[in-house]
Amino acid sequence: MFGLAFRFGLENSDHYRKIRNRNHARSESCCNLKLDLKRKKFIYVEQTLKISVIGAGYVGLVTGGCLAGVGHEVVCTDNDLEKLKTLESGRLPIYEPGLDVVIAEARKEGRLSFRANMADAIRAGDAIFICVGTPPLPNGSADLSAIDHVARLVATEARSPKLVVEKSTVPAQTGQELKRALGVYGRNSGVKFSVASNPEFLREGTAVEDFLHPDRIVIGVEDDAAARQLREIYRPVLERSFHCPIHAGKCPDTALPAWLVTTINSAELIKHASNSFLALKISYANMVADQAERLGADIDEVVRAVGMDARIGTSFFRPGLGFGGFCLPKDLQAFVHLAEGSGVDFSMLKEAEKINKKRIENFMVKIRRALWVVKGKPVGVLGLAFKPNTDDIRFSPSIDLVQQLVAEGARVRVFDPEAMERAKAILPDVEFAKTAYDAAEGSEALIIATEWEQFHNLDWNRIHGAMSRPLILDGRNLLSPSEMKSHGFEYYSVGRPD
Ligand code: UGA
Repeated sequence: MFGLAFRFGLENSDHYRKIRNRNHARSESCCNLKLDLKRKKFIYVEQTLKISVIGAGYVGLVTGGCLAGVGHEVVCTDNDLEKLKTLESGRLPIYEPGLDVVIAEARKEGRLSFRANMADAIRAGDAIFICVGTPPLPNGSADLSAIDHVARLVATEARSPKLVVEKSTVPAQTGQELKRALGVYGRNSGVKFSVASNPEFLREGTAVEDFLHPDRIVIGVEDDAAARQLREIYRPVLERSFHCPIHAGKCPDTALPAWLVTTINSAELIKHASNSFLALKISYANMVADQAERLGADIDEVVRAVGMDARIGTSFFRPGLGFGGFCLPKDLQAFVHLAEGSGVDFSMLKEAEKINKKRIENFMVKIRRALWVVKGKPVGVLGLAFKPNTDDIRFSPSIDLVQQLVAEGARVRVFDPEAMERAKAILPDVEFAKTAYDAAEGSEALIIATEWEQFHNLDWNRIHGAMSRPLILDGRNLLSPSEMKSHGFEYYSVGRPD
């Protein structure tokens, strides 16, 4: 395009310069100038930024859906063809509040499409967000084979310059490897690649909210052009200038997100350091809860007062069955592995992991103490997901607990509002109840393993009447001890006086 300007000898015209500067100020990638041959004038044309998202899991779908939702043109691909078929048919392969609306609207407006042909998907975008899985290897390190595979594909299939953005959680220095791989595999293509890291801080269950209203957006870059391009991608979020699908136009009056530009290594480290710190904080809360139990204190009172210190804060300070899911446990392990590899003794992280692994056994001690004999007894369990508002059961403490109960001979009946379908395959020896009341019916103990809001609001008089023995073990401190006792329950929780 600019070449055209030179051919017409217009490159020094004021009009051209003015528009070109404005174009640069706004973005390098999403705006364009066109020469109107009749009027011999440049006209400014706003272009939609084209984005490819590789990987249609939690991160990819939320990223793709939300970027399309704020106005970009997004093509999303995955090597799981079944998943793409599900998405094509208008259904979602996961339960994530608000995501269905975001995706449906973006598709209706023609800004989001799913494509099975990865090469096509790669060619469609100016920026490519890599959102593939990085699961743990047996030694705890992150398996980066999917990233390597994508790098090879991008390098060989791209036909125009690409900004390749690492969104998957990866150990520090992966960006350097990615850059090297793109250079090596794409050495004959003549295509220019730049690499950036853009870690995600999306919590399952509130991922859409977290994407559209983040505290901060971190980008790790090597050049100004990549920073400008990413800023343009996130401009609607940074300025909150999009139509918000989850707050119906009335977003909470919170601060606009901070925009943090770092090196690629720092951005990668920020992600692992954040998740590992959250894991440390939860394990710390769990240890304080154990102390509170032994010393006759109440963890709720302790956490409230300790957390009022602005340096500490109450968030991620809830004790219970420990942290699960596909992020905190694996990222903690990967961070430990990374530290070992770089010669840093980060054994405090190993301690946090060890504490977390003991949470289920600690809770089993409470269950055994309350039930006396576990074998043969009917036990109801409420919650299978690793946290509320998701159907994700990966590394779910609740699943571990149910398996332990089954191993000890309990007759377990479970209920979860969203996660039962997924759990059926891995819990062959339990009964799946239709409702929470059904799970409680005839049971000698009812265990709260995931703190779904709807469990908070159950008719506890009805449950009391349905159980063989009105005993509740609350692994997530969801309920109020005094209220449960007023309903006539024998009630045990974590770190609170019985
Ligand atoms: C976590 C981080 O919170 C996100 O910022 C990050 O982007 C994401 O991992 C990721 O790396 O993709 P997520 O795994 O969805 O998000 O779940 P969390 O809300 O962090 O909860 C993790 C576990 O900790 C859950 O099992 C939860 O029940 C437990 N938890 C959380 C506690 O036991 N106590 C708390 O106070 C908070």
